[in-house]
Amino acid sequence: MSDENSSPKSGTEPTAARSHLPMWTLVVLLTLLYLGGIYFDHHSGWFDRQVYAPFDNAAQLDAYQPKSGAAAALAAGKKSYESVCGTCHGNDGIGKAGQAPQLAGSEYVITRGFNRLAHIPLAGINGPIKVAGKDWNMAMAAMGMALSDADLANVLTYIRGSWGNKAGEVTAEDIKAIRASLGARPQAMTAETLQALPE
Ligand code: HEC
Repeated sequence: MSDENSSPKSGTEPTAARSHLPMWTLVVLLTLLYLGGIYFDHHSGWFDRQVYAPFDNAAQLDAYQPKSGAAAALAAGKKSYESVCGTCHGNDGIGKAGQAPQLAGSEYVITRGFNRLAHIPLAGINGPIKVAGKDWNMAMAAMGMALSDADLANVLTYIRGSWGNKAGEVTAEDIKAIRASLGARPQAMTAETLQALPE
């Protein structure tokens, strides 16, 4: 037994030898860290995409924004227009040959007031009319009669403010008053009876 450390006679305390961390543990640790990073990357770092980044673009986000005032009226009006009127007048408002005249640039739509205009979907219209220089002689039933006051107001606001048209908005109260003045079974309008009404 000649080991100095174990010899009580030598007078030195036993020491624990310090050794360097073996290289392989470092490699294993770094590899784990690296793989962990990849795992996090592929799993959104555990943040749910649906919660933290649910939209792909601005249009998608906009579709979820609550609309107010004029924007709401236009959005609602577009929807009703396209389901009730667009089939004949076209979703682009330029009309369809043999089906219905244009609303874009129509002198029946871009008037200062909307009294005459509102009478058309509430009472219907038939007989010869001239729209933007073109002659028509067909008939349209009271296509707006089944719509609520607010819905029809939005439709008219939409057609007065779209496709280059720049006329003012129509409110539900306006439609309510005009509907009441027409009674339950209004006579279809003609170009002449419309002309006789205040604009
Ligand atoms: C079934 C087809 C049809 C549908 C649906 C229809 N219209 Fe018409 N509309 C016509 C026709 C046809 C005329 C022309 C009537 C005539 O010759 O006297 C007309 C004329 C008009 C006019 C006057 C002329 C013009 O082009 O400016 C307005 C305004 C109008 N429609 C608005 C509406 C609105 C608002 C709706 C929806 C609530 C609607 N129409 C739905 C067929 C349709």
